[in-house]
Amino acid sequence: MITLVNLNKIYRTKEIETQALENINLNIEEKEFVSIMGPSGCGKSTLLNIIGLLDSPTSGELFLDGVEVSSLSDKVMAKLRNRKLGFVFQNFHLIPALNVLDNVELPLLYRSGVSASERRKKALAVLEKVGLSHRTKHFPTQLSGGQCQRVAIARALIGEPAILLADEPTGNLDSKMGAEIIDILTKLNREGTTIVMVTHDEGVAGKTDRIIRMSDGNIL
Ligand SMILES: Nc1ncnc2c1ncn2[C@@H]1O[C@H](COP(=O)(O)OP(=O)(O)OP(=O)(O)O)[C@@H](O)[C@H]1O
Ligand SMILES: [Mg+2]
Repeated sequence: MITLVNLNKIYRTKEIETQALENINLNIEEKEFVSIMGPSGCGKSTLLNIIGLLDSPTSGELFLDGVEVSSLSDKVMAKLRNRKLGFVFQNFHLIPALNVLDNVELPLLYRSGVSASERRKKALAVLEKVGLSHRTKHFPTQLSGGQCQRVAIARALIGEPAILLADEPTGNLDSKMGAEIIDILTKLNREGTTIVMVTHDEGVAGKTDRIIRMSDGNIL
């Protein structure tokens, strides 16, 4: 489902060049739940962002479902990102001025042909899935960290992505709330979603199918 071939990422600023990823070769199967571990700065987020089409490699190839993505136009790539990929971040990235329901509905606003009532129905369904259907009118500041992350997961799910990418989704949560988030991700994975998750927590990583260990831009 996800294949990287000889992939490199070099960040260039005026003074310095950083090779964040060095000749990465990786294959992730459909319906796999994979975690990525490694020390700070080893390239985990860079790898996840490239898989998620949020950043582009300096060289090498990325295939999503057999399609090499660098050849796609920006428009097709944006559509692919919206349709196929869901993101969850450590800091939730919710919009403070929007309530829970509006935050969750947001990705569908960028999709043509979805009516307001359909949007609402889907938002309520994904909120139900993460156990938050009783908090639809709350704003992010009125929620706990674990609840915020569940809203973020609901928002990632509303587009029914085949692939969910999570960058330290439990990083800002205590162990109990973290465990709840991992339970939700495990359930989603059993329902067929391919998940790639960055984590610093060995216990969390131990619950996934496979741990990919990175060091200094390389996969060990
Ligand atoms: N936009 C950027 N410009 C320049 N260098 C960058 C940029 N983003 C990341 N880097 C560098 O690339 C390397 C990999 O960064 P990355 O964020 O992928 O690490 P990480 O493994 O996710 O670390 P952490 O566990 O701290 O989140 C680091 O050396 C970092 O300083
Ligand atoms: Mg990171």
